[in-house]
Amino acid sequence: MRSHLLFQDKASILDYFNKHGLLVSPKALDIILARSLGDMIPRLISEDIVSAGYVDEKTVKSILIGKTSTPSENFEVYIPDVRVRSSVDDFRNHFVSKYTKLKKIISTSSSMRGSTDIRSVKKTSGEVKFVGMVSTVEKTKNGHKRIVVEDLEDSVSVILMKSKNLADELILQDEVIGIVGNVSTGQGEAVIFANEIIRPDIPFRMIDETSREPVYVASISDIHVGSKTFRRDDFRKMISWIKSSSDEAQNLKYLVLSGDVVDGIGVYPSQEDDLEIMNPFEQYAKLGEYLSEIPEDITVFVMPGNHDSVRLAEPQPVFSQKIAQSLGRNVTLLPNPSTLHLEGKNVLVYHGMSLNDMVELVPGANFETIGKAIEEILKRRHLAPKYGGKTPLIPSPVDYHVIEEVPDIFITGHVHSHALGNYRGVRYVNSSTWQSQTEYQKMMNFSPNPSRLTMFDLNSRTTIVKKFGVD
Ligand SMILES: [Fe+2]
Repeated sequence: MRSHLLFQDKASILDYFNKHGLLVSPKALDIILARSLGDMIPRLISEDIVSAGYVDEKTVKSILIGKTSTPSENFEVYIPDVRVRSSVDDFRNHFVSKYTKLKKIISTSSSMRGSTDIRSVKKTSGEVKFVGMVSTVEKTKNGHKRIVVEDLEDSVSVILMKSKNLADELILQDEVIGIVGNVSTGQGEAVIFANEIIRPDIPFRMIDETSREPVYVASISDIHVGSKTFRRDDFRKMISWIKSSSDEAQNLKYLVLSGDVVDGIGVYPSQEDDLEIMNPFEQYAKLGEYLSEIPEDITVFVMPGNHDSVRLAEPQPVFSQKIAQSLGRNVTLLPNPSTLHLEGKNVLVYHGMSLNDMVELVPGANFETIGKAIEEILKRRHLAPKYGGKTPLIPSPVDYHVIEEVPDIFITGHVHSHALGNYRGVRYVNSSTWQSQTEYQKMMNFSPNPSRLTMFDLNSRTTIVKKFGVD
């Protein structure tokens, strides 16, 4: 009999995890307590999970389902990658990395020439320029916007005036911005009245048009193999087309699968009812069967998403060797996010979990108009500008979500729309799903745009969308 009496209250559970070097999320803790799962804690600290260093809701639910309806040996819930410690230093280092990288980009703007730090700014008069991370955003009662920004040593209040058309500027918490303004020290503490907000942004540029033969990179996402609503016939049609002798198919050299490649298990309550294949390894093996038909001269890149069998928190590591083997010989594994260098072009790939946060933060953005949210991400040169929210992030010492290299193509997914756009010369796509409308989407009155293959020519501005089913 396991000593689960030891694990009946929060303090003893946290203490036990802590002794094993593990961070546990509050939701995971709630589930363990609410369902008296103390006796499964030793399983949670099995070798794989200890190496990953983090226990979240998904881990607990996966093991819970394994315990009640399917042999738990079939579940691989974590791939070790980044060790997480719950210290304040980790968060500090993460935010310092974000700030430093984005400051470097912002400082290249000619408008920021002569910028200084906040401590110096507060002792100055006249026009000032500095870079800060936003910690507070609020409307004043007169309809202006007041924000507080911080750098590595100090913080200051900045007023965005209606009269300068800055009060409606979309400012997100945790984003890093440049400010050009004037200092006022009238009532003691220095306050800045902003004249201009400088974003890291994407420099304008033209898409290269060469006379070379087309070389296509194709993008699909959110395939959800294993779900009853996976569009198997459309997917097969797409594979047949890729194998065909048409010129476009012949010039296809790269295929990107940007996450949620299978439906997984234990991702949401009662998911078992929606599954055709209950075992995640069998789901990956089924996907591997399809991918094995793709001609060998096409490189297939596969990234995980929130439904996949890796750690939920980003950056997500690549799939385990076991999963890689079932996906087949032709596959190159990617972490989430990743930048690919293909034919001299930068292709940024991100599953897109932060889009859930961005649709709530960006006025006018929703799942149908997801391009608005994607452009706000590019403008901020950060894949998850606001820390946390619905996007679980690891406070790694290096912030991998900063968009350091300007992409030529930005591929994302997750929300099951299909949106194509061009922001300052960056072609982007919210890649199409291969899953029909789910019950949840029906409830939310959202219709996905499934069964489309998006193809970007790396040698010209040509973008082709091939549709393999009806909406
Ligand atoms: Fe997703």
